[in-house]
This record gives sequence, C-alpha cells and structure tokens, in this order.
Amino acid sequence: MSNKTTAIAHSNIAFIKYWGNFDARLRMPLNDSLSMNLDALKTETTVEFDEAIKEDVIIVGGQPADDKTRARVIAQLDLIRKQANISAKARVRSHNNFPGATGLASSASAFAALTLAAARAAGLELNERALTVLARHGSGSAARSIPAGFVEWLAATNVTSTSEQSYARQLLPPEAWDLKDVIAIVSRDPKQVGSSEGHAAVNTSPFLGERISRLPIRYHRMRRELLNKNLNGMGADIEAEAIELHMLAMTSRPPIFYWAPATVRVLDAVRQWRQEGLEAYYTLDAGPNVHVLVEAKQAEQVADRLKTFADVQQVIVSGAGPGAYTTDKHLF
Ligand code: PMV
Repeated sequence: MSNKTTAIAHSNIAFIKYWGNFDARLRMPLNDSLSMNLDALKTETTVEFDEAIKEDVIIVGGQPADDKTRARVIAQLDLIRKQANISAKARVRSHNNFPGATGLASSASAFAALTLAAARAAGLELNERALTVLARHGSGSAARSIPAGFVEWLAATNVTSTSEQSYARQLLPPEAWDLKDVIAIVSRDPKQVGSSEGHAAVNTSPFLGERISRLPIRYHRMRRELLNKNLNGMGADIEAEAIELHMLAMTSRPPIFYWAPATVRVLDAVRQWRQEGLEAYYTLDAGPNVHVLVEAKQAEQVADRLKTFADVQQVIVSGAGPGAYTTDKHLF
C-alpha cells in the first residue's frame, strides 16, 4: 500500500516576532511569538517513502532543490524517520501557490507542509501539539503554521525546559476575526541573508538583552488585545515589533539590512494615513515587503492606495488562514 501523503500549509505573519534562539540546534526561540496564518499564501507538499530508491529525491517548484534547501529538508526527513523507526528514502515534491515570484517564499508554510506530509507518510500519529514541535525543528516559524488562525508559540526558556515544551497553539480560529493583511511587494529578490543566519547573528546586537527583558509586558498586552479582536489596541506594539526586528538585524555584526527605499516610503505613508483616520498598521518579515494590517472593510481602500506607488510591484490581500491539513490531491 502506498504511503503517499500530501499536505497543505499556509504562511504566517508574526505580530510578536521570533528573532533569536535560546537553543539554535533545536530551534527553541528566545521569546514567545504571536502570528496570523495567511489564507492567500500556501505550500503544497507530497511525500512518499520508498524502500526501492537509494537517496531522497526533492523537487521544489518543479526543480531539484538547491544544496542548502536539500540539506535542510533531509535533516527534517531524518528526524521523522528516526521517530517512525524507518529507513526508507523519500520522494518529495513541493510548490508554493504564491501569486508569481513574490519574494515571500516562506520557510514557515514549507516546513509545516513537509512535516505533516512526511509524518503521516511515515505512519506517525501525532497530535497537533506534537506536530508543531516537529515542524519547529525545520523552521521555527513553521510551528505557528500548524494550528489554524491566530496562533501563539511558547518559548520554554528555563534551563530545565524540554523541546516538547516549546510548541504552538491556537488563540483564535480564522473565522473569529476578519482581519486582513494587505501585502505590498516592493522587491522580488531572494534574501541576501537568510533568517537562520539572522537568528545566529542576533546575539551580537547590544540591544538584544534590552528587548528580551521588556518583551513579556508587550506580549501579554498584545495577546489580550488579540483575544479582544482590538486592532487599535495592538497596532502600536505590532509596529514596534517590526522596527525592533530590523533594528536588531541592523545592529548585528556584520549588520543585516533588509529594507529597500520603497519600504521606508510605504511605512511613512501608513503613518500618514493613520493621521487621516485610517486605522492601518504595518509590519515586516525579514525582508523589504510591507504587510499592512487592517479590518476587512478597509482592505480594498488600502490595497488601492498601495497600488499607486511606483515601486510597489504587486499587492496581495490575505485573510486569516487555516492550519495545516492533508488532501488526496497528490503532486505526483
Ligand atoms: O522560521 P524562521 O527561521 O524563518 O524565522 C522567521 C523570522 C521572522 O519571520 C522574521 C519572524 C517571525 O516570527 O516569523
């Protein structure tokens, strides 16, 4: 019988950012983080273990994976093979359905989909919490793409903490809040410095300790406002998180700059719109593209305004997305 399994997982945008590890090998983060899954951005992955093949075959977006991606996918497959006590190599085929090449290629949706598909194909029966822990090993933020909707990922940073204690869980289902992320694509270039390198470098920023000591208050305030579905109450902290993430990157050694000139122009515009009464707040991933968070009724207006920028190449409007799930529609 074939063990072929296909899983779909959505990308997520963090409101409280994960930047830096407490344990880099296990990808246990320095702090709790909060995010929303994005229904418009997803990865679909089919995995099949086969005793008859001699090495893992990994196809991403129709091409054999590059060496770095291949090594990371194999490490994740090895972890799953070990847990399932199997040795068969795997066929993996994966693609993002992000509209065009958007520069949003996210390891979160990729490793969430890979983890669910491979775990099921290997015969592992894991509950949601265990899946988040397993996905976390592939890419930290992938843990938050396993549960649906609005999600928190707990850090577990005591010296006695175990890997199983750093897991993600749902705070609100996607249908609970019609919040939109209006994404302004200002660059489609692949990142110069990946987030794994950014996490590793953050310990060299003199501001890291200050951030970590102040974060719990912000976290609990944000969490409370999120549960109240109060964007206005979250906005200032959402923007502070985006700035702090990039400030930490810029003050790491060597420094990491993700912003493009257009990034700054869009941030300025959002602040200006707010002065005019439009309740919109920006955030950023480890890249130059800007995410603008608004209530659904304002999403179209914000999208139209962003489209008027000469250096905004594309605008994507996304609502809160589902968690990772399996489907019978295989990619091979
Ligand atoms: O999961 P990683 O290693 O790609 O890290 C994600 C880091 C940010 O996207 C910048 C922040 C976050 O919490 O998603």
